[in-house]
Amino acid sequence: PFILSIAGGGSTYTPGIVKSLMVRLEDFPLAEIRLYDIDEARQSTIAPVVEKVIRDHSQSIKFTVTSDPEAAFSGAHFVFAQMRVGQYKMREQDEKIPLRHGVVGQETCGPGGLAYGLRTILPMVELIDLVERYADKRAWIVNYSNPAAIVAEGVRRLRPDARVLNICDMPVAAMRNMGAILGVDRHKLEVDYFGLNHFGWFTRVLVDGEDRLPQLREHIARFGLLTEDAAQTDPQHSDPSWVKTWRNIKPLMDHFPEYLPNPYLQYYLMPNEIVAHQDPNYTRANEVMNGREKKLFAAAQEYQRTGVLPDAFHVGVHGAFIVDVACSLAFDLRQRHLVIVENKGAIANLPYDAMVEVPAYITANGPEPVRMGAVPLFHQTLLMQQLASEQLLVEATIEGSYEKALQAFTLNRTVPTMQHAKAILDEMIAANREYWPAL
Ligand code: G6P
Ligand code: MN
Repeated sequence: PFILSIAGGGSTYTPGIVKSLMVRLEDFPLAEIRLYDIDEARQSTIAPVVEKVIRDHSQSIKFTVTSDPEAAFSGAHFVFAQMRVGQYKMREQDEKIPLRHGVVGQETCGPGGLAYGLRTILPMVELIDLVERYADKRAWIVNYSNPAAIVAEGVRRLRPDARVLNICDMPVAAMRNMGAILGVDRHKLEVDYFGLNHFGWFTRVLVDGEDRLPQLREHIARFGLLTEDAAQTDPQHSDPSWVKTWRNIKPLMDHFPEYLPNPYLQYYLMPNEIVAHQDPNYTRANEVMNGREKKLFAAAQEYQRTGVLPDAFHVGVHGAFIVDVACSLAFDLRQRHLVIVENKGAIANLPYDAMVEVPAYITANGPEPVRMGAVPLFHQTLLMQQLASEQLLVEATIEGSYEKALQAFTLNRTVPTMQHAKAILDEMIAANREYWPAL
């Protein structure tokens, strides 16, 4: 049985992920779960809820809660990394500063994602170093800290040999929705997909060898990438703002029907429409703080008071996917999953060393990307521009370069002019003084 450490134990996602682990103990046996967080107070609020979720399934798994990296990682076999540098308070800034300039306010796309990247790259590298110091030498870090594309590129540049597998649940969430539309379990779909994280396209959706993309296309033209009754497709992403996000695939496909886009492409391809429907004073960070976070804190309080834990933690695709990937790493299952990997020719006409999102076979030694071939000029050009923006942001972080940060902001498709880029960057520098390297 494995020792698993969750870095960012105080996350609102932790109880759901632990629930996903508990229903898969036969596939992924655990001796111990450790929660690690630098925010002790937040973690200690959430820890009793997590412990209860564990005890409902197992009396034998040891449970440890700590802020000491040595205690957290000593001898660990797996680390799940889910840090949120600056927490929701800074997510709110990432979303609201660009919106004040009429630019998309989103935690991973546009200036918000670039700002979050500047906060996260160096702490992520510190975390990797701590894990390498204390953990089992063959330990894997399954990293889903956002902004995943930029974090993956930063890790590649600064710690190229680290045993880190970078993942995001958005492609698999899209597959869950496809499955619901087609009436097929998502594990039965075999997809082809190319792109960068939060910036890619499905090109084929095979079920028993037959491409069902044409059928999905017809459905999407009416309802977007959701069943007609959204709640039925998507218990995890059922907030109105998420429903809107999935429905918005429709205009993207109306214009470019060949491939099925990742929903995040709406921020890059129709930013003014997105901004027109965003409330600059109440963004997704506010929704999450007043929704998911508040509910979890209330559940924790109620559990303390009454000893009864409200049944609010179900197995979503997010946790289920993390466990799938960890199993494949642990037991060399070579399952095919969409993950973020070094290109190495998987997308023939993107740089060899780009961090891309493609299908890969997940082995005990890491991902083996599947060749997707060359992509059309339109997609290649969009991808190159986004890649350049993200790579310049990483270089700005490493070198402390204002000029490269400004280039990263200017190149991002969500940002209309150089002047917008500079005004947003300058406001973000002031807001991130505690977190960013000096530019
Ligand atoms: C999806 C994305 C994540 C993102 C999350 C935000 O799961 O893959 O990258 O962090 O959505 O969800 P939230 O509910 O916090 O807005
Ligand atoms: Mn993601």
